[in-house]
Amino acid sequence: MRIEAYAKVNFTLEVLGKRADGYHALRSLVVPVTLSDTLTLVDAESISSDTGYDDDLCVKAAKILKANAPEPKAIKGVAISVEKRIPAGGGLGGGSADAAATLVALNEMWGLRFTPERLAETGAEVGSDVPALVLSRFAGPVVMEGRGEFVRPAGGDFPRLNLVLVNPGVFSSTPRVFAKCNSRVTDDPEILYNIVSSYQSRDLSSIAASFMNELEKAAMELNPEIKTAKEALIARGVSGALMSGSGSTVFGLVSSEDEGREIASSLRAEGYSAWCVETYCPVV
Ligand code: C5P
Repeated sequence: MRIEAYAKVNFTLEVLGKRADGYHALRSLVVPVTLSDTLTLVDAESISSDTGYDDDLCVKAAKILKANAPEPKAIKGVAISVEKRIPAGGGLGGGSADAAATLVALNEMWGLRFTPERLAETGAEVGSDVPALVLSRFAGPVVMEGRGEFVRPAGGDFPRLNLVLVNPGVFSSTPRVFAKCNSRVTDDPEILYNIVSSYQSRDLSSIAASFMNELEKAAMELNPEIKTAKEALIARGVSGALMSGSGSTVFGLVSSEDEGREIASSLRAEGYSAWCVETYCPVV
């Protein structure tokens, strides 16, 4: 079976505090985009992938799904091959997107009939971003809370938006960024309310004004190239340029695909990796 694994960007990312388990409590609007890896899954005797990573999240997802199956012994394995386009360490959830696509594909191949919610719950055992990336395949934009284990559809009708993504080619270390960021003691429900309502209003300038990421400052201090990439996007006239996740990719809104393509190609001419993408809307 072939399946696309969609990347995500975070339109908001609030760090609400540090938990007893060492993870940070977050609240984020996670939005899937059309930049994707392509996975091919074939029945096999054991569970394997061709990525060459020791901590491969596809393999981990397949093993955890098998362990959660009603009859694990009835399941053999799967060979997963990944055509990689989403940059690693880029804040776009690449590894987690591959794991989410693996869960969705194997749910079908193994005839498990798990609901999206049950698959998202299984994904929480794989990694923090996996539940959001499972649910967003079915629901589009999702609200993610906790360390990522609580996810729900953002609800309502969201327009398709054109975005430009730019990656400065540096690997942003998630644990180092979290260790450096300031967690807040109070939280402000208006941040999520504002992004969801402006996104539904389709007004680009109010959407851009509602973007925020509380990991951005720390990530830019660790890797100044992220700030330079953001400035390169702003100089080309995008609205609301913002770092995604814990970095290093920065994204911004554009008003048309033509404008996005032009900006992406001018960034590539300067040596950046850049993509013109759309927000991903699942077919229901
Ligand atoms: O979940 P993941 O393995 O991507 O997280 C990597 C590291 O980032 C964690 O070990 C932790 O140090 C930090 N982190 C955090 N709070 C989160 C997610 C990650 O502190 N919500």
